[in-house]
Amino acid sequence: SGNGAREARDPSSPLKRFAQAKDAIRRAFQHLSERLAESQSFLQAAQLGSDGGGVSSLVQRTQEIQKVLSRDRMKVAFFGRTSNGKSSVINALLHGRVLPVGIGHTTNCFCSVVGGEGSEGYLLIGDSPEKRSVKSLQQLAHSLSSQHLDPSELVRIFWPKTKCPLLAEDVEFVDSPGVDMNANIDDWITKHCLDADVFVLVSNAESTLMNAEKNFFHRVSERISKPNVFILNNRWDASDSSDLAEGGEEGEGGEGIDSAGPRLMEQVMQQHLERDIKFLTGELSVTDEQTASHRVFFVSAKEVLHYRLRKHQRSADPGQGLAPGYRARLQNFEQFERRFKECLSSSAIHTKFEQHHKQGQTVVGELSQLLANQDSLLRQRREEVRIELGACQSRAQQLAQNKPSLVASGDHLVSMAMGQVGSFQSKALRD
Ligand code: GTP
Ligand code: MG
Repeated sequence: SGNGAREARDPSSPLKRFAQAKDAIRRAFQHLSERLAESQSFLQAAQLGSDGGGVSSLVQRTQEIQKVLSRDRMKVAFFGRTSNGKSSVINALLHGRVLPVGIGHTTNCFCSVVGGEGSEGYLLIGDSPEKRSVKSLQQLAHSLSSQHLDPSELVRIFWPKTKCPLLAEDVEFVDSPGVDMNANIDDWITKHCLDADVFVLVSNAESTLMNAEKNFFHRVSERISKPNVFILNNRWDASDSSDLAEGGEEGEGGEGIDSAGPRLMEQVMQQHLERDIKFLTGELSVTDEQTASHRVFFVSAKEVLHYRLRKHQRSADPGQGLAPGYRARLQNFEQFERRFKECLSSSAIHTKFEQHHKQGQTVVGELSQLLANQDSLLRQRREEVRIELGACQSRAQQLAQNKPSLVASGDHLVSMAMGQVGSFQSKALRD
């Protein structure tokens, strides 16, 4: 279909590495569980313990890891103040209007978007197993606003993978309410952040980073060692226009675009960049300066979505109607996508699979210890059987060797008996 589908299916997508690693580790565990089953039936057959000599608990542990493994996803969470464009950024990444977007306080609880099978989306709220079908964005928005949900509650949106191919790549997007909404930040972090691989701070390019945003990330980095944080200076298009207005009087706006506007924009961008880098390095200490400079972007989520939707509709000029300079913002967004995908897949492989790898190694170690123990038990049994067999053999040999004398003494006994019988007979005849 459109560009989005092609892009998301890009075979060189960094996200593919996660899928490859997941497949490799899944096969390794499959192999391990087959070896465990073999060991179990062998030990049961050898009658070395009713539970297959302790293999059962290893089988159980391996099955649990396999279950967790099948659910593993790359998780990216978005935070920032109300109306900065968190939901808009996720929609732009998904090439579609999936999450409700609007002025004022729109997202009122945590919303996770993952890929679902089938052609229709559905919702799961909190721990309830009830699936609510979502056919449209309006329906979703209505469903969310009518629920009176606690802000830290999680609504899981299963959106058709066929509509957003990025969702077929095992990515989970987590949208949040504004960090300025008197939130119970610690609760949020415990419930939604501890297993996130990447955090995206969506800031408003028209202002600077606010304390509410900074504090939130300080708390995150207290709980997670060196979280991966990206900063999106969103609404860069709006900053652009306001600067243009400053560029001159009415009617001279065109001149502003070419002269004062871009220079001023450059200065503002430089200022944001320096502050954002300082925040990531000096204040949060989550990364070095070199990496930090690749973690800050100047974008317009609204424009990216507009552009992408129009491209899907095969518009001849998808950028029509967008503010001047949109191409650079679009490119910056694409750069952000590339970098965050790389970071996401390598972080997820590292944090999620390394743990399984370690657990798998422990199972293998315990299995080999168990087999070694059983092996020595088997050797002992074999030795006992060998000794018993030896004793039987020598008794048999003894018996075989004694056979002639036994026969002779038997014959002797018989002849003695016959003699007795003979003398009885003659005695009887005489009498
Ligand atoms: P809450 O859910 O309320 O916390 O807000 P949010 O951060 O999810 O913001 P949302 O995506 O709902 O966007 C808020 C408003 O800003 C909407 O009207 C968007 O259309 C608009 N908006 C988002 N991104 C941009 C952008 O890059 N440029 C411009 N001009 N407007 C934007
Ligand atoms: Mg929102």
